[in-house]
Amino acid sequence: MPSITTRTLLEMKEKGERIVALTCYDALFARLLDASGIDILLVGDSLNQVLAGAASTLSATLEQMIYHTTIVRRGAERAMVICDMPFLTYQITPEDALRNCGRVMKETGCQAVKVEGGQPLAPTVRRLVDVGIPVMGHIGLTPQSVHALGGYRVQGRDDATAERLKADARALEDAGAFAVVLELVPAALASQITKTLTIPTIGIGAGPACDGQVLVLHDMLGLNDQFSAKFVKKYAALAEDVREAARLFAAEVREGRYPGPEHSFGK
Ligand code: KIV
Repeated sequence: MPSITTRTLLEMKEKGERIVALTCYDALFARLLDASGIDILLVGDSLNQVLAGAASTLSATLEQMIYHTTIVRRGAERAMVICDMPFLTYQITPEDALRNCGRVMKETGCQAVKVEGGQPLAPTVRRLVDVGIPVMGHIGLTPQSVHALGGYRVQGRDDATAERLKADARALEDAGAFAVVLELVPAALASQITKTLTIPTIGIGAGPACDGQVLVLHDMLGLNDQFSAKFVKKYAALAEDVREAARLFAAEVREGRYPGPEHSFGK
């Protein structure tokens, strides 16, 4: 049983301790991140872009998310594992959402699910929470609505949208969500929302006042060098390391320098 729970996260907010989250899609990275003290491993549907090369998250499937969440869970001891519910697995009816989220909880061993949306989704969040499924909300730039939002743009810059986002956050808290992701919203608005809520906010492109921060792992490692954004800080430059190692391997194989005697077996 992982030691980070929804209760831990609430206590961290109360004590002013920052919550650290990263996306994670496999057991190997889960082991490394868990050992580094990351609190939340979010199996984001961003895996459809980062790993599967799709243009958006929209075509991610429930089977994909169940597979990746199961393998992340194998590598996690301390961290809380959260499965991002893919497009149309929770928006049609609350009963449908319950069936799909219930399947994720039963089959993967994760501790919570994440869903995108605000006030219209509150009855669904309530239904899930009432049967014991912890739910993380996600508002602001919600990638599953990228076409309706007109692209990957900062949300809540005008007063009407800012007010709606505040009401969305409150509705999610009232419906029983244990945390809410704020994606691509102005720092001042994220700060106001964070102060009003009793549940933690986890920001991505939402400034420093959120209770925690999340980034896409492959972006912050500099592994996905086809993506860059103002809010992403690259803590490593692994794409170049990978290319360089592959070039070196290719050169050594072609020149007959690998494998050497130390890599070969005698009788
Ligand atoms: O899918 C994802 O990776 C996410 C995070 C960026 C919050 O939803």
